Amino acid sequence: MSSRPPSAGKLPLTELAELKQRGEPIVMVTAYDYPSGRLVDAAGVDLVLVGDTAAMVVMGYDGTVPATLEEMLLLTRWVSRGASRPLVVGDLPFGSYEVSDGQAVESAVRMLKEGGADLVKLEGAGPSLSRLQSISAAGIPVLGHLGLTPQSATKLGGFKAQGRTATRAHELYDDALAVEAAGASALVLEAVPEPVAARITKALGIPTIGIGAGRECDGQVLVWHDLLGLYEGRSPRFAKRYAEIAPQIRAALERFVGDVRSRAFPGEEHTYSITREELARFEAELASVDS
Ligand code: KIV
Repeated sequence: MSSRPPSAGKLPLTELAELKQRGEPIVMVTAYDYPSGRLVDAAGVDLVLVGDTAAMVVMGYDGTVPATLEEMLLLTRWVSRGASRPLVVGDLPFGSYEVSDGQAVESAVRMLKEGGADLVKLEGAGPSLSRLQSISAAGIPVLGHLGLTPQSATKLGGFKAQGRTATRAHELYDDALAVEAAGASALVLEAVPEPVAARITKALGIPTIGIGAGRECDGQVLVWHDLLGLYEGRSPRFAKRYAEIAPQIRAALERFVGDVRSRAFPGEEHTYSITREELARFEAELASVDS
C-alpha cells in the first residue's frame, strides 16, 4: 500500500528528487487508456508512463519501433484524462525525435499540448543528448532511458541485458551522468546488472527508475500487462506478475459464448419492458399498415 494518500492535486515534479533524498521508493506503472489511468491514480502511483511498449502489448508488434507519434498522442490523451494525481509521461516513439533537435521539441510540445502529458521520455545518450537538452531548454521535463533501449534493440543485438562488461558498464555510467547534465528530471534504467544500476543511482542527483535493474534504484516501473498477467505466455525475467487476469478474461468470454449459444443470456433481467397497452397499439398499427 502506498504511504502517500491520494490527493486531488497533481504530484509536483520536484517531489521526485525529494523522494530520492528521503529514500522513499518512487512507483511508476505503464498505462494505455482511460480506465487504466484511473486505476493507477486510485492505487497511488507517482508516475504513469504511456510507453511505446504499447506497440507490443496493445498493438501486437514484435518491437516498439512501429508505434507512431499520432498513436502515442492518442493513448497519452486517454491516460491523462484518467490519471489526475500521477505525473503522466508521454513516450516519444522512434522517428519522432531522431531527425533534429527541432523535431524533438515539436514532438515534445505536442505530447504536452495534445497528449496532456507532464513529461516526455526519450531513449539513449549520444545524439539523444542534444535532443534532451533542447526539450528541457524549452521548459519540458524529460525522463531519460538507458540500458536496454527497445527502440534500438536490433543494434543492441536483441532484447538483452546491457552493461555486463566493465567497458559497457562504464559507458553506461558516463551516459547516465551525461543524461543528467543534459537536463533530465529522472532516468529509467532497463535490464542492467544490479550493482551497475546501484553505482549509477548513487552517482546521480536525479532519481533512477529501474525495470530489471535491481533493488537499489530510486524507483521501479512495470508494464501494465506484465504486472497484471494480461497474457498467457511467459513474462520477462524481471517482471513480477501481481495477478493472473488473462485466464479470468478467457473464462468469462467462454461463459459468454456458451450463454449466448445456449440462449441463457440475456435473461429477463437484462431486457426492457413496454406496457401491454402500448404493445397492443404497436401491433394494431403494424396490422393496419399490412392490410
Ligand atoms: O515503453 C515502455 O513501456 C518503457 C518501459 C518498459 C520503461 O519504456
